[in-house]
Amino acid sequence: MTAPFKTRITELYGIRLPIVASGLMWLADPVYVAAVARAGLIGFMTAASFPDVPALRAGIRRCRELAQGKPFGVNIMIRVSRDGSDRVNPLIDAVIEEGVKFVETAGNNPEAYIRRLKDAGITVLHKVPGVLRYVKKAESLGADAVTVIGAEAGGHPGVEPVGSIVAGAAAARSVKIPVILAGGLGTGEQLVAALALGAEGVAMGTRFLVSEEIWAHRAYKERLVGASETDTTLLLQSMRNTQRALKTAHVAMIQQLEKTEPVDTAGILPHIMGTVGRKAYESGDVEKAMLSCGQGVVFADRIEPLAAIVDRLETEARAAMHRLQGLYQPST
Ligand SMILES: Cc1cc2nc3c(=O)[nH]c(=O)nc-3n(C[C@H](O)[C@H](O)[C@H](O)COP(=O)(O)O)c2cc1C
Repeated sequence: MTAPFKTRITELYGIRLPIVASGLMWLADPVYVAAVARAGLIGFMTAASFPDVPALRAGIRRCRELAQGKPFGVNIMIRVSRDGSDRVNPLIDAVIEEGVKFVETAGNNPEAYIRRLKDAGITVLHKVPGVLRYVKKAESLGADAVTVIGAEAGGHPGVEPVGSIVAGAAAARSVKIPVILAGGLGTGEQLVAALALGAEGVAMGTRFLVSEEIWAHRAYKERLVGASETDTTLLLQSMRNTQRALKTAHVAMIQQLEKTEPVDTAGILPHIMGTVGRKAYESGDVEKAMLSCGQGVVFADRIEPLAAIVDRLETEARAAMHRLQGLYQPST
């Protein structure tokens, strides 16, 4: 079958559909990212999920084996570690030395890192919240493309979240580099809507969490399948680290802590440590953790192979295009 969509994003990555599977802490491992690649999309393995740099290198090699020659990338979170040590450059050394061609950066200002990556011939996608000054900054720093995150997104939608429909349209009008829209997107119809807004691709996280290739416990995926569009909430605004997560008992407890005056940041930190989330993915006991999840969870309606989800997205997108063409009646 010929590629149904051609945008600068499909060209940039050499993929069939303009859909990116963004980094997912603990979950975007070689098995998942290679399944994304084989399904004709591009996915990014989350560097921070690996215990150390040698494990990341081994993960890159494993993903390459499983991806059967299809493109894949690595997600690198730019952040200053609490002890002040440089955790980012060793990751960049590893991706360069392992011959990775595509990197997704997120988090703090990537200025110091984009140049290194570009000099090594790596294509850089930088991900920002849907606020124009960040979108423009990504372009000015030399990113090849920018992912714009709307308020509906799982993970970090930004300190002042802006809904995807505004964020995507505004971003597409303000930069020349291709824009990828994310946040609440989980259907082929939404892909077409994003393209209509001026984006050249979409990124999805939440929609793919129920794929069979995600290693997390089945009880977690079943909870997502049963979840509605109101089953997520924003938290950690008090720490200016806003996150959207599944409504769980653990999240309600953190929100209660945030209401105390003054906010006890040190008291909150142990509850939001990544290892708490990883344990819940392992056990399926979701009530005991803060688990990133977007409003688009409403579209995650079935546990099935990643390729089946992608097939459905493609079928939906084709139908949406067809329907729109039927609605358009240019005057003669
Ligand atoms: C479970 C989960 C874990 C995530 N972990 C990361 C991460 O480690 N690094 C990152 O850049 N983004 C992370 N994100 C954000 C996603 O990459 C993506 O931007 C977001 O999921 C898009 O919105 P959506 O969830 O509405 O599809 C995570 C999202 C989810 C749902």
